[in-house]
Amino acid sequence: MRTIEWREGIVLTIDQRFLPLREEWIEIRNCMDAASAIKEMKVRGAPLIGVTAAYGLALTAYHSRARSRDELMRELERCAERLRRTRPTAVNLFWAIDRVLDRARRTSGGVEELRDAVISEAIAMADEDVETNRRIGMYGARLISDGDTILTHCNAGSLATVDYGTALAVIRAAWEEGKKIRVIADETRPKLQGARLTVYELMRDGIPVTLITDNMAGYVMAKGMVDKVIVGADRIVRDGVANKIGTYTVAVLAKEHKIPFYVAAPTSTFDLSRASEDVIIEERSPDEVVYVGSTRIAPEGVKVINPAFDITPIRYVDAIICEKGVYTRREFLKLVEKT
Ligand code: MRU
Repeated sequence: MRTIEWREGIVLTIDQRFLPLREEWIEIRNCMDAASAIKEMKVRGAPLIGVTAAYGLALTAYHSRARSRDELMRELERCAERLRRTRPTAVNLFWAIDRVLDRARRTSGGVEELRDAVISEAIAMADEDVETNRRIGMYGARLISDGDTILTHCNAGSLATVDYGTALAVIRAAWEEGKKIRVIADETRPKLQGARLTVYELMRDGIPVTLITDNMAGYVMAKGMVDKVIVGADRIVRDGVANKIGTYTVAVLAKEHKIPFYVAAPTSTFDLSRASEDVIIEERSPDEVVYVGSTRIAPEGVKVINPAFDITPIRYVDAIICEKGVYTRREFLKLVEKT
């Protein structure tokens, strides 16, 4: 399921807020649209956020009336500033913006050359994302045995990327190889990406999936119902992995039950010059916690915190699967030392 398309000056994507009840495609026509799609979580998931930002810059270039290269460059930088203020945690956003701006700065020529370069960079990044995810799937599937039940958290599937997913790429690739696997999906409070999106995707593909609430993870592990855990990532730093709130809890539980805990993510999610304390954890509206859908579930005036991500210390991570292969924790730490 390809989640985002470039159509000559318009970007089409699914408004994920309405899934699984309806699959509504929306048009992103300019930088503002791209920024608000990211901020309001019409699109979400680290790699898809990055590609949407790249397309926001491509739309700026496409529709620009700039008469000089410098003027277009200034428009791109203004757009980049707006995009950077959307969501702070997933590093793919900043990586994608920097990559497009860098391509623009390195391109010689006038407005036309700059415009073409920015658009073709964004399109290439979207296509590369799919190729990257296929490779993550290929490498990751080697860790999966026939008959495994895999627990996943949040949505690291096609809907979080351009296509195929990261954690779900591993699951898809193993399934395509004929391994009879099953998935347990955490519902992922408060935004319910597991219940709404992961379950939707896997059922579409005919991959057996069972939905649990987040507080059932310990129960299913204690009952011996989980063989492996695979999650995605929003930012992999020197000493930990930032991912959807609740990932840390799952990782600690997995260690207690001696269940391998794997992270699947492209290298564009690596941010090895930073450590856990440098990661800004997005704090979202209390309404996401006190309402389920349109129903209020907690008394008016209650104090609420709503961090959207947590950080799993690297000691809980058995391996990181990326498009270059599988890094065991020890190999990853060696890579960190060299960086
Ligand atoms: O708040 P979201 O839905 O953007 O959070 C998504 C996640 O935490 C995913 O696990 C992560 O981005 C990896 S997606 C391949």
